[in-house]
Amino acid sequence: MENDRREFIKKTVLGTAALSFGGILPGFSAHSYRNISGANERINVGTVGVNSRGLALSNTFSMQKNCNIMYVSDVDIRAAEKCIDSVSKITGTRPKAAPDFRKAMEDKDLDAMVIATPDHWHAPAALLAMKAGKHVYLEKPCSHSPEEGEILVQAASKYNKVLQMGNQRRSWPNVAKGIEALKSGVIGKPYFGKGWYTNKRPSIGVGKLAAVPDWLNWDLWQGPAPRMPFKDNYVHYNWHWFWHWGTGEALNNGTHMVDLLRWGMGVDYPIRVSSNGGRFHYTDDWETPDTQVISMDFKEGFTMTWEGRSCNARSIEGSSVGAMFYGDKGSLLIAGGNGYTVFDVAGKEIESIEDKEKIDPRNAASPAQQLDALHIQNFFDGITKGTSLRSNIDSGHKSTLLVQLGNISQRVGRSLEIDPQNGHILKDKEARKLWSREYEKGWEMTL
Ligand SMILES: NC(=O)c1ccc[n+]([C@@H]2O[C@H](COP(=O)([O-])OP(=O)(O)OC[C@H]3O[C@@H](n4cnc5c(N)ncnc54)[C@H](O)[C@@H]3O)[C@@H](O)[C@H]2O)c1
Repeated sequence: MENDRREFIKKTVLGTAALSFGGILPGFSAHSYRNISGANERINVGTVGVNSRGLALSNTFSMQKNCNIMYVSDVDIRAAEKCIDSVSKITGTRPKAAPDFRKAMEDKDLDAMVIATPDHWHAPAALLAMKAGKHVYLEKPCSHSPEEGEILVQAASKYNKVLQMGNQRRSWPNVAKGIEALKSGVIGKPYFGKGWYTNKRPSIGVGKLAAVPDWLNWDLWQGPAPRMPFKDNYVHYNWHWFWHWGTGEALNNGTHMVDLLRWGMGVDYPIRVSSNGGRFHYTDDWETPDTQVISMDFKEGFTMTWEGRSCNARSIEGSSVGAMFYGDKGSLLIAGGNGYTVFDVAGKEIESIEDKEKIDPRNAASPAQQLDALHIQNFFDGITKGTSLRSNIDSGHKSTLLVQLGNISQRVGRSLEIDPQNGHILKDKEARKLWSREYEKGWEMTL
């Protein structure tokens, strides 16, 4: 039965190319596409971690005409209910609640999982999903540590699953055009790439030990991470700024821009990485830097930097987020939106291509829903037609690793020498310890 359904998904998709499967919604009501697509030809999806980004993704996935949200999982029952209500308003069908996503994965009809949990859960959940035979759309960063990223690369190949990382700008058409222009030599030979992110985040204060709220399964929230007592300033979102669960602004927002820089330059691994900065703006529990500059040198003769300012929102080049390439004939800017601008070597603008739709890069949940849909459709095409992914895990891991190496340099307080063959840290024993993380006993990632 199950194989029949999967075969049917494939055949139907191939046979109805003219329907332009996966048109970009909103604009096309869910109820109207339900008349076109039968239940059998939709990809059954379970979404995991649906407070903010996961809620936005659940909505965007449910707007795709070839998608059925079958399960919604969250360890916060309020977040799950809100998401189920939201999806059912869009599609007219209520997904089932699966408070423990591992239960949902036992369902043979479930094709894919969308993972938007906190970072410490990303790689372990993706591995469990692939082992259970599911394809995965995995939010960035793909992993909490470099070792986890390498395990995912092996797992996607071992279990032969489609694993797309959520650095959605890879699917934004004018961003891709900007990268093409760069590669065709519009600024000559690029030799420096600068990425950045700025915001004005408030203090997270000093947390107090507190009773676990009755709406939260704290044990499953922690999952693979060694157990900690509950404090009142971890959940939701603030976990980003604790090394135990989060990865700081560098992986939260740096991953996006460093990925564009690496894509544009066509490089894999660096030879040297260093990081400077700290938690300067407030005195509170926040552990990761709020001010950070990561520098990466490549043997190809190219340097990249990423600047993060979490607590001072003064923009760069008029944008809160961006990637700028400097070359011997000019510069090329990809700012927060779906576009790019070319400058001559004197700094004069010579060409600018920009979507009319305004994008708010500081919107934490859904900066650009219609553009996200392009990345989701590429994921679905990967499943149904074998189309190559715009952000497969080999590429996603390499970009994530660059910023992870920045954080490791930051934590040990010195520059790291890197093997350009595989991205591994050379010589430094203390830094190499941070290549992997500790797990709660019984939660280790095994292929
Ligand atoms: N691609 C993008 O543009 C983009 C934008 C925003 C966030 N993100 C990523 O999405 C992820 C989530 O970010 P957020 O801001 O929504 O965080 P959040 O803390 O607001 O939400 C995380 C949710 O995951 C739930 N959760 C934790 N453990 C779970 C488990 N075992 N099973 C099910 N649910 C679980 C939490 O209860 C919470 O509801 C982060 O990794 C972030 O980097 C990506």
